[in-house]
Amino acid sequence: MRMTDIIEKKRYGNELDDREIRFFVSGVTDKSIPDYQICALLMAIVLNGMNERETLTLTTEMAKSGDILDLSDLENTVDKHSTGGVGDKTTLVVAPIAAALGCTVAKMSGRGLGFTGGTVDKLQSITGYNISVPTEKFKENARKYGMCVVGQSGNFAPADKRLYALRDVTATVDSIPLIASSIMSKKLAAGAETIVLDVKYGSGAFMKTPADAQKLALSMVKIGKGAGRKMSALITDMDVPLGFNIGNSLEVMEAVKVLKGEGPDDLTELCISIAAQMYSKSFSLGKVESISAVKRVIADGSAFETLCKAVAAQDGNEKLLTGEHEFKKPESCTEVFAPKNGYISLLNSQIIGKASSVAGAGRERLDDTVDYTAGIVLDKKYGEYIKKGERLATVYGKQEKTKIAAEELIKAYDFSAEKPDKKPLVYKIID
Ligand code: URA
Repeated sequence: MRMTDIIEKKRYGNELDDREIRFFVSGVTDKSIPDYQICALLMAIVLNGMNERETLTLTTEMAKSGDILDLSDLENTVDKHSTGGVGDKTTLVVAPIAAALGCTVAKMSGRGLGFTGGTVDKLQSITGYNISVPTEKFKENARKYGMCVVGQSGNFAPADKRLYALRDVTATVDSIPLIASSIMSKKLAAGAETIVLDVKYGSGAFMKTPADAQKLALSMVKIGKGAGRKMSALITDMDVPLGFNIGNSLEVMEAVKVLKGEGPDDLTELCISIAAQMYSKSFSLGKVESISAVKRVIADGSAFETLCKAVAAQDGNEKLLTGEHEFKKPESCTEVFAPKNGYISLLNSQIIGKASSVAGAGRERLDDTVDYTAGIVLDKKYGEYIKKGERLATVYGKQEKTKIAAEELIKAYDFSAEKPDKKPLVYKIID
């Protein structure tokens, strides 16, 4: 088989057969295919697409290109994946809820990069939390507490790693079959029998419109089902950050509030929707029953208790969650005030995410260090009225950085005389 023939076939818009896709992924993994041929095929895929079968084969081959986590000795395993957002601390809330309801969330999470946060950084803001434990310990904790969240380790989907690095520098990221196969190859390799996806759209997301997010979600759901997993996807708004807190320890504190029934409305609504999908898909239950079960484990404190136990099992100081101890305080802060009267008609997630990163909460490169105390606390959200001179938000971190971040942050806002229309947070659920 020759790579040039495969490239030519896709260039003319023809379907690749499974043998050709296998040949490609195996050559990507063992490096027998050079970068220039890989990039030529990627561009042909961007231009001519892939059908469902091609996308499924590409995904399963990429999943098989490295380690596959075997979770078959755990019951009702469920994973949740968000396509990335600002202020998105949902994993910290939905994992203990699902665990309290009898699911097993044995999950590998990523670190934040650019303007989006990562669950691993949030967990590491809890003093002592060990994100890297041997597989046996990872499974034992998941079995005992119903959840265990660690950082990514091992060699998962190495074919995707090489493809993603090349896509990043050849304008070939933007393709539904390539994005769907990239995300799903890692999810399939992570081993859970049920996968719930939170596919975001809006200023702080990859997909800018609900229609595009829906196409991506459908493609991922079909891949997962084709690979024998139980699948569900929520299409959700990321025009505006989730909750009021952005930044690692600030987000942990807000996640705890949701688990205590005291969280902000938008974050609570989304967490309930995601957790209900995790539970209903795992146990094949109806929507109403699942939502009321989720609300019950929040109200009776069992979800919060689960999080505390799971954090302690990873050597994290759970007293930071119960309030017996306090998170380390940020060195300084800078307040941002409204420049005029009006309703907040724009609260751009991407700019807010960048400002939080500039304050020290994120990293531009994977080896940058993170200030866990840094971030932003918003006083008001989209649609609320504010008077000139009232505080819009506070930026926390090292003094110099908070000043620069505050100058960025103000660019995220716009104000209008009329109250802007309310937008739905959960646009659609595909299950
Ligand atoms: N995230 C991934 O892992 N892959 C993509 O292609 C896009 C987002």
